[in-house]
Amino acid sequence: MPHSIGFDIYGTLVDPLDMNEHLRPFAGDDADAMSALWRQKQLEYTFRRGLMKEYENFGVCTKQALGFAAESFGVSLSEDDEAALIGEYQNLRAFPDVAPGLEKMKERGHRLAAFSNGVEATARTLFENAGILSHLDEIVSVDDIGTFKPDPAVYEYLAKRFERDIEDVWLVSSNPFDVIGAKAIGMNAAWIKRSGDAVLDPWGFEPDFVASDLEDLAEKFG
Ligand code: LAC
Repeated sequence: MPHSIGFDIYGTLVDPLDMNEHLRPFAGDDADAMSALWRQKQLEYTFRRGLMKEYENFGVCTKQALGFAAESFGVSLSEDDEAALIGEYQNLRAFPDVAPGLEKMKERGHRLAAFSNGVEATARTLFENAGILSHLDEIVSVDDIGTFKPDPAVYEYLAKRFERDIEDVWLVSSNPFDVIGAKAIGMNAAWIKRSGDAVLDPWGFEPDFVASDLEDLAEKFG
């Protein structure tokens, strides 16, 4: 049976930690740690803004998190440096399994959407640059409703965009908080466990599938 599937973007289709290479000229040996802090703060800012109801889009969260990470590591970035780094964020490569995995799922008739905290226009540019735009049927951004994952409203919005009931929709994400957010409201979820030591928070919500990557997932969906 064809499924309606929403794919998380960052960590699932592209790897935000690849930004470490672009941070290396500024941060040297701290580039990996700075890249991890940048990502951690970016997500924290979305959680906090969601709770505080002080919405600013994901681009703002990403930029402010970069500022925090830079200051934490004593790295000074000019406005041009910052703009160049944010530009590189739209050049992140897709994981190698993404194009073949999406292709298989599309061939089998599944409806595929990107479903992200990211702003739609930014996601579109990212996918164009990564060569996977044509593999996706649509892009669903939380920006349309001004809140972030894992607010239940964003999963309801995905179901609404698919014109399906929540229990007939799938979320695919490598981010445990996203998987748990979807399961908590009754959506199906597949966890992409890209690293052997990734841990799902022990909250009592289990994914319906665990797959190592999107090609593995395509096999599991059948
Ligand atoms: C996203 C973030 C959560 O793409 O990775 O929505």
